[in-house]
Amino acid sequence: MPSTPTPSEIARAAAILRAGGLVAFPTETVYGLGADASNPAAVAKIFAAKGRPQDHPLIVHLGNIDLLPLWAAEIPAAAHKLAAAFWPGPLTLILKRAAGVPDCVTGGQDTVGLRIPGHPVALELLQAFAGAEGGRSFSGVAAPSANRFGRISPTTAGHVRAELGPAVDAVLDGGECAVGIESTIVDLSRGRAVLLRPGQITPAQIAAVLGLEVQQPDAAAPRVSGALASHYAPRTRLYLVPAAELPAQLARLRGKKLAVLARAEAPSGLKDISWQEAPRALAAYAHELYASLRRLDDLGCDAILVEAPPAAPEWQGVNDRLMRAASNY
Ligand code: TXA
Ligand code: MG
Repeated sequence: MPSTPTPSEIARAAAILRAGGLVAFPTETVYGLGADASNPAAVAKIFAAKGRPQDHPLIVHLGNIDLLPLWAAEIPAAAHKLAAAFWPGPLTLILKRAAGVPDCVTGGQDTVGLRIPGHPVALELLQAFAGAEGGRSFSGVAAPSANRFGRISPTTAGHVRAELGPAVDAVLDGGECAVGIESTIVDLSRGRAVLLRPGQITPAQIAAVLGLEVQQPDAAAPRVSGALASHYAPRTRLYLVPAAELPAQLARLRGKKLAVLARAEAPSGLKDISWQEAPRALAAYAHELYASLRRLDDLGCDAILVEAPPAAPEWQGVNDRLMRAASNY
């Protein structure tokens, strides 16, 4: 049964935001940990609750496209096109920031990350927060994923409560997040379109709307061992294993307590292995990924082996998260 917060729960959560408190809320990607983006003291509570370095910029969530010019100083035609095509939805645009956007949400940069999320509960909250002015006030909710810094993003309200508990003033329960991985981030602030984080919306889809290629960030080109900051990571060491190598790796690790996440059925006769079968289809795979990793992490195994998904372009978002979670990349 999908959960739906009542109008009075939404109104209470909006009041908490206005008073400078923290509200965790569902989006279509992952749960966010929200604070009033125009209130530096409220935003500081996000960093404290997450244990996150202060210089990391946050995404500002808007309830209404009319708010965009209040947060972004320059809105190129490409931004209008992408907003029309994908908002509300799992896309974050990096734009030149407007005067008055606090340094605490931009990490002191001259740009700001903005998105209109596609979850009805998120939109209700953002619109209630914007209040009687009909969404024309300088209102936005800064929200990183509602997890401790470096850990797996939450895709249920239960994940948020388990990880952040009393640090949050309210948790709105909107059920499981449909997409399951964080939004695609595209930087439009420098006269080009650059993919900063892959997600469900692919560079090909963006290029089709813009009529121009989306550039990959230079840093993402060579994936050398140890070069990636560990992120989205379980506590148990996780290894990403090509499908063809999985049997040999399992044989090599015999005697260890292992968890496996694979798109194949468990082979018969396996002992001491917790085998989690993942969906074969991309959307379902992404939807379940973080919940599966949390479940396997909680088993206290010696290692989690994840069968590498296809290398096809539309799997880039999933593969990016798995590589960051893996110890062997
Ligand atoms: O799907 C999502 O985007 C989720 C939901 C809650 O909306 N949010 C999320 O936030 O993933 P967070 O803080 O976990 O990741 C935000 C990413 C970070 O990698 C940050 O560096 C980048 O967005 N970012 C934010 N503002 C930026 C800016 N001005 N320039 C470059 N990167 C920025
Ligand atoms: Mg995050």
